[in-house]
Amino acid sequence: MKDQLAKIKAEALAAFDSAGGPAALDALRVKYLGKKGELTAVLKQMGRLSPQERPAMGQLANEVRAALENAIETTSKRLEQAALDARLKAETVDVTVPGTAPALGHKHPMYIALDEIKDIFVGMGFTVLDGPEVELATYNFDKLNAEEGHPSRDWSDTFYFDEDSRVMLRSQTSPMQVRAMETMPLPIRIIAPGRVYRKDEVDATHSPMFHQVEGMVIDKGVTMADLKGTLNTVVEQLYGKGTKTRFRPHHFPFTEPSCEMDVQCHKCGGVGCPTCKGEGWIELLGAGMVHPKVLEMSGIDSEVYTGWAFGIGLERTAMRRFKIADLRLIFENDVRFLEQF
Ligand code: PHE
Repeated sequence: MKDQLAKIKAEALAAFDSAGGPAALDALRVKYLGKKGELTAVLKQMGRLSPQERPAMGQLANEVRAALENAIETTSKRLEQAALDARLKAETVDVTVPGTAPALGHKHPMYIALDEIKDIFVGMGFTVLDGPEVELATYNFDKLNAEEGHPSRDWSDTFYFDEDSRVMLRSQTSPMQVRAMETMPLPIRIIAPGRVYRKDEVDATHSPMFHQVEGMVIDKGVTMADLKGTLNTVVEQLYGKGTKTRFRPHHFPFTEPSCEMDVQCHKCGGVGCPTCKGEGWIELLGAGMVHPKVLEMSGIDSEVYTGWAFGIGLERTAMRRFKIADLRLIFENDVRFLEQF
């Protein structure tokens, strides 16, 4: 029996030692120490021993049991530690591996053009104003000298919110002239960029929503020469030194005299080509001297003060600046288009 116990002990310890994992170890525990285990089987034979032999054998059996239990305990701890080590190793994050760069966007081409315009005017001492897109007809028309019945007030051109045609989506940024005159101390030098709305069908050059930049100067002794000088400087900064401009007479209800400014075609240099539709010139903006009636309606003495104003289409400016052929590209926001700027 003594030999049997020694054999079980040696076998069991070797088996525990080479157990591959917690489950295998548990199976071994049952095999040796379980109710039907090998050690238990030996102990059951104790009854056959003589009373003299029994105490010593009992003690030996207990020692073997204790040794096996001990070994299971240590092996179990070793296996747990190994499992933990393996997991830590597998889950290690290598903080030195370069990360995936997030895709960075950039400014929309139209806002690149707007920022250039803003920079030029801020450099000349102008303040940039922001104003409401839902506007009162009072500001969009009445105080701009476009009386009831003026064609631009027609329902077929303008988005109104009410039956009486008093609240509307602004059709131009010019109401900002009035808002500036009513609230700002004189002299005034402002630009006011923003969205405007007209009932136009979408095509290569039209959209029911587009952007304008309004500009206005009110001071003593301001003349048409200041208007031309300032706008020529702006055009040279936008399109390059020596860019030629031309001023044509025009009509707006809120300026007198009124004009449109053209720039010489950048494609053909004025000879005439498809880009300028054979004209040699491309229309850029509307402008004029602020009408004395408009000054008076906003509480400014037209005997003392004069002023000039202009309104420029932003999409067109960006299209010319970046040679974009179709207005729709500016609004569709196709990344393959936007990425090019
Ligand atoms: N508001 C005019 C338009 O939309 C442009 C303009 C602005 C003309 C200021 C003269 C002075 O066409």
